Amino acid sequence: MQDGRVKEYISAERIAVRVRELGERISDEYRETSLLYVVGVLDGAFMFVADLVRHIQVPCRIGFIEASSYGSGMRSRGQVDVRCNLDIAGCDVLLVEDILDTGLTLHEIVGEFDKLQPASVQVCVLLDKPSQRRYPLEARYVGFDIPDRFVVGYGTDFDGRYRELPYIGYLENPDTGGREV
Ligand code: PRP
Ligand code: MN
Ligand code: MG
Repeated sequence: MQDGRVKEYISAERIAVRVRELGERISDEYRETSLLYVVGVLDGAFMFVADLVRHIQVPCRIGFIEASSYGSGMRSRGQVDVRCNLDIAGCDVLLVEDILDTGLTLHEIVGEFDKLQPASVQVCVLLDKPSQRRYPLEARYVGFDIPDRFVVGYGTDFDGRYRELPYIGYLENPDTGGREV
């Protein structure tokens, strides 16, 4: 669970408090909704979705889509493969992501979702890096604004690793040839 290369930035306790707050706000704002379709974006959002839905007091359907832009590197490849076979027509959709960075991933997903004619689409992210935004995308629900540092843990990864950490951390000495991150 501990990893000497990862410096803790947001503790598991702070995450838990914030996730509960987000769940309570979502529950309040969707209180008239008969069924909320919570859609998590794999892989990074798996842990956040699992914790968040425990605090949503509205009947939910829960599903996941696959979207990946980073591959094994530390920078977005600039293209996203979105695979969605969920039937969201007529549904109130809450898209849940671990992190909003350039906005490319969510921009592409929202574009695909719009074609499927949902009743509404809102975005919930645990982490937001507003300084990095290159695509017009705002999340209605944001856990934490963070600076432009490469984070891992609580679902987020570097080359597929560190997703299991219960906290968010900075990678202090990544295998990047010593490049500062
Ligand atoms: C990461 C993260 C978000 C996206 C954010 O996913 O989980 O989905 O990048 O970056 P963006 O706003 O610049 O698009 P990644 O592509 O690493 O795939 P993963 O979730 O499988 O790790
Ligand atoms: Mn992702
Ligand atoms: Mg990733």
